[in-house]
Amino acid sequence: MKALVLSGGKGTRLRPITYTSAKQLVPVANRPVLFRVLDTITAAGIRDIGIVVGDTAEEVMKAVGDGSAWGANITYIRQEAPLGLAHAVKISKDYLGDSPFVMFLGDNVIQGGIKHLVEEFSRGDWNAQIVLKEVDDPSQFGVAELKDGRVIRLVEKPKEPLSNLALVGIYMFDHHIFEAVEAIKPSWRGELEITDAIQYLIEKGYKVYPYIHRGWWIDTGKMEDLLEANRLLLDEINTSVEGKIDGDSSVTGRVVIESGAEIVNSTIRGPVAIGKNTRIENAYIGPYTSIYHDCLIRNCEIEHCIVMEGTKIEDIPFRLEDSLIGRHVEIKATAAKPKAYRMMLGDHSKVSLIRENV
Ligand code: DAU
Repeated sequence: MKALVLSGGKGTRLRPITYTSAKQLVPVANRPVLFRVLDTITAAGIRDIGIVVGDTAEEVMKAVGDGSAWGANITYIRQEAPLGLAHAVKISKDYLGDSPFVMFLGDNVIQGGIKHLVEEFSRGDWNAQIVLKEVDDPSQFGVAELKDGRVIRLVEKPKEPLSNLALVGIYMFDHHIFEAVEAIKPSWRGELEITDAIQYLIEKGYKVYPYIHRGWWIDTGKMEDLLEANRLLLDEINTSVEGKIDGDSSVTGRVVIESGAEIVNSTIRGPVAIGKNTRIENAYIGPYTSIYHDCLIRNCEIEHCIVMEGTKIEDIPFRLEDSLIGRHVEIKATAAKPKAYRMMLGDHSKVSLIRENV
């Protein structure tokens, strides 16, 4: 069995972060989503992994390398434009050959891994296996309609969903999927949809098995979803302290404090993850916060946030909450006159300031 990981695409819902970086490399609980995908695939015993890359190819290749960190053999497959998930399968035909494969969207995080799914698919005589999850807002996803435990219809992002069963971004296929991706036409959004390709398999009488996932699953396409994935993953961490905590600090709950990190005169209330060489000084770090490597957090309070690499946050008078802060960002209060907000924000940035006396 091989794996195909999709790490191209545009990531428009995560601008401005995705103007400069791949959305699949945003860290959740201090590990990039794509690394978690590779952890999940290799934990299922799969070693041959093709990664589809687009505009952010260089960054993805630099971060993942040849896959030796996972004991995997990685092959990069260039997609010239994000023409759809089924298009990504089409261009990967030479790499995949006749091997059955698991296709894993590089921005999906799933609880409990995929080992059992891979084993079930290898044992059975199904041509495809889809993973479904009951959700409150199915119209944002591909949606499946089942009858007597069989899939009868799949629709991509329907306005009026016929069920609350969303397609999780983990699919298993045999070689018949290549016939399907050749046969389908681009959708209204101009993409070759994998949902349409699976619908083709159903119509041609191929066997498509619906597996209903009971644990949590997050498609990290938007900031709120990244914060939620961060929350769920931090809820599962075990305490590990490799950095230094001074005698004036108080650390409670489950925390990961990586090597070279320093906690000085601060309160950390877990679950919290602090990355390598990050310094926390005179600060409060509240539950569900992940601060990545090489950051400085001084004289401020942060809770329920993801802070990416190399960022400095200092002297902020109000608590920072529910935020995703990119790499090498600087947020600082100053006493400079005139008393004013001063910002340099990228396109599509979002800032919420406190309105007093309301
Ligand atoms: O996350 C589950 C959902 O993923 C499913 O419910 C939908 O049926 C499926 O179409 C897909 O929907 P999204 O709109 O969320 O897909 P997105 O464009 O975010 O792409 C998913 C991943 O695949 C992402 O890591 C980017 C990558 N990608 C995407 C496209 C369109 C590529 O590598 N190449 C592409 O051409």
